[in-house]
Amino acid sequence: MDREIKEKIKYLLYPRSVAVIGASRNPRKIGFQVVYNLIKDGYKGRIYPINPNADEILGLKCYPNILDAPDDIDLAMIVVPASKVLNVLNEVVRKKVRSVAIISSGFSELGKKDLEDAIVNICREHKIPLLGPNIVGIINTNNNMNLSFCPHLPFKGKITFITQSGALAIGLIGWTWASRIGISKLISIGNMAMIGFEELIEFLEEDRDTEAVLLYIEGVKNGRLFAEVSKKVSRKKPLIAIKAGKSLRGAKAAASHTGSLAGNVMLYETAFKYAGIVSADGLEDGFDKALALSLQPPLYGDNLVVVTNGGGAGVLSSDYAEKFGVPLKDLPKDLVNAVKELIPPFGSPNNPIDLTGNAYRDDYIRVLDTVFRHPWVDGVVSIYVHAAITDPVEIADGIAQVWRNYRDKPITVCMIGGREVQVANIWLRDNGIPVYPTPRRAISAMAALRQYGLFLERERGNGGMVRNKEISS
Ligand code: ACO
Repeated sequence: MDREIKEKIKYLLYPRSVAVIGASRNPRKIGFQVVYNLIKDGYKGRIYPINPNADEILGLKCYPNILDAPDDIDLAMIVVPASKVLNVLNEVVRKKVRSVAIISSGFSELGKKDLEDAIVNICREHKIPLLGPNIVGIINTNNNMNLSFCPHLPFKGKITFITQSGALAIGLIGWTWASRIGISKLISIGNMAMIGFEELIEFLEEDRDTEAVLLYIEGVKNGRLFAEVSKKVSRKKPLIAIKAGKSLRGAKAAASHTGSLAGNVMLYETAFKYAGIVSADGLEDGFDKALALSLQPPLYGDNLVVVTNGGGAGVLSSDYAEKFGVPLKDLPKDLVNAVKELIPPFGSPNNPIDLTGNAYRDDYIRVLDTVFRHPWVDGVVSIYVHAAITDPVEIADGIAQVWRNYRDKPITVCMIGGREVQVANIWLRDNGIPVYPTPRRAISAMAALRQYGLFLERERGNGGMVRNKEISS
């Protein structure tokens, strides 16, 4: 892609001024909602509604044509019917707008490839990055920009979600608040007529507000380029991909949804492996893994320890650890002896360490501290099964207190208990610790941290070890 176009991608995400072409006074129209959201959610830049039939929209002066806007425009968001987009785009070009996004549907996904090619050609010729068409918009929680018809901003954090499905973006916003999944940017890319995954991923490599990038993929335009760019970016930031359209019918649905060719499943899996992309099985798994990778360091090394107050949860964890490629090993003898001193005789000092149902905050602190401090240990999954005698918030506080001293080793937490553990879960996530309701999900998230750690070890070509470790057993 042309260098000038690439350099202007920043205006799609951090514009200082936005023109909404097709802004409306009718609250039932998308053109109203986009302007309303910018104002309501506190976008700090300048907003220029464009509509030939209105003088004012939501208290903002409205201009009949973008050429009448008194200022330079970083981003034009187009919300007029597809049949009017070409005309509008010609005015956008004359105004020397720096970037363009198109919400309007009715292009290649409807078989109107010629129309889509025509808008791409105009943008290419004038070196303007084009996002869409057929998108819900762009959200950036770092500048409070809700330039979309999503109801509100998602919960703020470090995950950037790039999605070919706009509806998923809309649906997931409420969920990010309920689950405390922190989002940096939410970018709907629709038909990817010009800007696709490759360009955005490359831009995000240097984005300070993004720690992990989650992709919802129906199909990519250029597989080879996608794999190469992803591999380069993965060395700096973890990428997680949900590949949709794996079944025959799913692939057909993808073609009519975004005009995408869903492609061969094996090819995608091979490309993901090559590029260090962590593959996710659907939305829940995708966000579970993205949460861990956005909050925790990678797992360097294979020595994972499970600490639990519930025997059954420990057994399940052992099974899942094996299934997800991070099998539990026996602990070194000195660690077993040290743990034995700290737990009741009816507990288990080996991996998984069972503190038993009697374990209070201080028991978690003592054992977790002993485990984390040991040089053999690479990462920890801490499990709490709610019991009437203990307070989950106290346990969560104890877990976080220990982990803060060992931040270079990853932790994931499982809290089993439904409503009783909700406050503790929110507190943990707000304090940078990924927490899940089942051992399966906590172990799967840790396995994602291992997968990413393995990729980095491989890339650094140092025979598998990044951190110096002494093994005492
Ligand atoms: N310049 C500025 N404003 C104009 C122009 C122009 N040249 N021409 C018309 N307008 C105004 C209209 O007058 C209208 O304002 P008004 O309400 O004051 O009359 C406004 O622009 C909108 O035009 P409408 O003709 O009323 O169009 P409508 O709002 O019904 O629909 C839309 C436009 C939303 C773009 C529609 O065509 C569309 O594509 N909807 C689907 C969007 C979508 O689902 N996107 C994909 C999400 S899912 C995914 O990601 C796969």
